[in-house]
Amino acid sequence: MITIALSKGRLADQALDLLEKAGYDVSAGREKSRKLILEDPNTGLRFILAKPADVPTYVEYGAADLGVVGKDTLLEEGRQLYEVIDLGFGKCRMCVAGPAQLKGKLDTIPNKRVGTKYPNITRAYFEGVKKESVEIIKLNGSVELAPLIGLSEVIVDIVESGRTLYENGLDVLETVADISARVVVNRVSMTMKADEIKPMIAKLKEQVEIMNKAD
Ligand code: PRP
Repeated sequence: MITIALSKGRLADQALDLLEKAGYDVSAGREKSRKLILEDPNTGLRFILAKPADVPTYVEYGAADLGVVGKDTLLEEGRQLYEVIDLGFGKCRMCVAGPAQLKGKLDTIPNKRVGTKYPNITRAYFEGVKKESVEIIKLNGSVELAPLIGLSEVIVDIVESGRTLYENGLDVLETVADISARVVVNRVSMTMKADEIKPMIAKLKEQVEIMNKAD
């Protein structure tokens, strides 16, 4: 039995579609209910539906053998696991954003306050990459509010279409990282369940290549 941790929401549906294309029977995973564990003993697959930020945790501890999760979550959580496939969907960018007038002037503001749901990514970027110390203010959502209301000068957040920034008079100031959905595997499962997991990875990679060629 392979246990797959899915990020509740749109990524979960896309992950199931991909597994189906790769030849797996995922009908158990499509059950519309409040159940958090969906399994079909005949297919040898068990799906667990987790909050995206918890998927790397389930996989690191081996509660799930494999997971599908955004690179943003992986960067933020910094868990010990194997990242084996870039699925190419769920694409967006992790950005520093703020009022448009700060474009090109970000480095001139000393001791910036940065609002974000991603304090680890923010610290790694400002302190690790830019060698700049900033005050990180942890928020839990609607992060764009922070510079509008004077809580912080800038934010670090996900930008997908750019609509949220645009409609709030904000702009991308710098790109921190390109994000997309990834397949991650527990390090012990990779060896102990190699007979099941390695062919699954190969079939998924094949499908991703087909998808990429069609783009
Ligand atoms: C995310 C992100 C941005 C928005 C970006 O928020 O934090 O606010 O989506 O998407 P866009 O560029 O297409 O507008 P989410 O919807 O997850 O809600 P949140 O504000 O509660 O984090």
